[in-house]
Amino acid sequence: MSWTPTREAFDQYMLPNYSPQKVIPVRGEGSRLWDQEGREYIDFAGGIAVNGLGHCHPVLMEALKAQSEKVWHLSNVYTNEPALKLARTLVEKTFADKVFLCSSGLEANEAALKLARRYAHDTVGEQKHRIVSFRQSFHGRSFFTVSVGGQPKYSQGFGPVPGGIEHGTYNDLESARELINDDTCAVIVEPMQGEGGVTPGTPEFLEGLRKLCDDHKALLIFDEVQCGVGRSGHLYAYMHYGITPDILTSAKALGGGFPMGAMMTTDEIARVFVVGTHGSTYGGNPLGSAVALAAVETISSPEVLKGVEARSQRFREHLQKLNEKYDCFSDIRGMGLLLGAEFNDSFGERGREVLAAATEEGLMMLVAGPNVLRFAPSLVIELEVIDEGMACLDRALARVMANG
Ligand SMILES: Cc1ncc(COP(=O)(O)O)c(C=O)c1O
Repeated sequence: MSWTPTREAFDQYMLPNYSPQKVIPVRGEGSRLWDQEGREYIDFAGGIAVNGLGHCHPVLMEALKAQSEKVWHLSNVYTNEPALKLARTLVEKTFADKVFLCSSGLEANEAALKLARRYAHDTVGEQKHRIVSFRQSFHGRSFFTVSVGGQPKYSQGFGPVPGGIEHGTYNDLESARELINDDTCAVIVEPMQGEGGVTPGTPEFLEGLRKLCDDHKALLIFDEVQCGVGRSGHLYAYMHYGITPDILTSAKALGGGFPMGAMMTTDEIARVFVVGTHGSTYGGNPLGSAVALAAVETISSPEVLKGVEARSQRFREHLQKLNEKYDCFSDIRGMGLLLGAEFNDSFGERGREVLAAATEEGLMMLVAGPNVLRFAPSLVIELEVIDEGMACLDRALARVMANG
């Protein structure tokens, strides 16, 4: 007998570690989604910065279909053509010489942190193991990455956290200077904090970290899981800043909706990962790699990257207008198509309320913390669709305001 799942089924069958919205989207195309009742929504969430080319983009569909008729999975006992093509493309388009493929952001960061520790261990010694990270940062949910992340609520209650990890204040170079010394093996930073509130790093901060890492022979890891793959208007945000990391992690939009991650580095650092040091069953899976290759090739085209700025501008103009109308934001910030609008004190921490009202008005969007609305739409969203979605947000804000 056929069964149509409902939102209540989530509470019945799934662990209660999420609290999804009431509607269940069943189909997507470009920047639009439809729910079980056929109701249409504009998508400003992009699966939390994943659907860089929107839903069911023809180029990604073609790549997935073509590969699905060849080979789905091999494991790393064998290599495969799509993985090699993807790795070559990433090397050609970035600072990196070598790529480790995996299936998620946390896996890419776990690999990066392990690589940094092993590199320091092998080239200097065991004492050089300290990792410096920043408060409010987010690097994933494995126990190592959650401990390195700067939001203690995610690592509390799980037993002793791994040692040798310290947290400075984001965009405060002095606080980093106090922590970084010759025992530091790595500094990990998001060039733009995503989960932590959509906060771009200042050029002085990121340049200062580069210099401190050079002075103390520590590796600089850029976590570009959320802000990478075109979101900043460059293929990777490090290109915007002109600051080259030693290790870069990528995921989310890399697979355009197919679970993919990558850790990239130089030949010199990569050499310490010898056979057996690290691995992942699904890393470099042919289906994912074929889709990611199509995503990277499409997103890195000048048309797509140039288009990000025009779209970003359109979002900002609308947000300014909403602020003039409702006096609700204290700050509108971000870069490219990762934008945040922080509510002012009089509006308060009502992000979840606005999210629910927006869904009712036909708009899917995100928050980053209780008081920041976050926008991470498709990089190719049409300008008219932005206008349409912003009209929904306007009505959603009016509703929330009317509730007092
Ligand atoms: C900057 C950053 N790093 C790492 C992660 C973890 O990625 P994943 O959820 O794919 O493990 C995220 C996820 O939101 C992220 O934003």
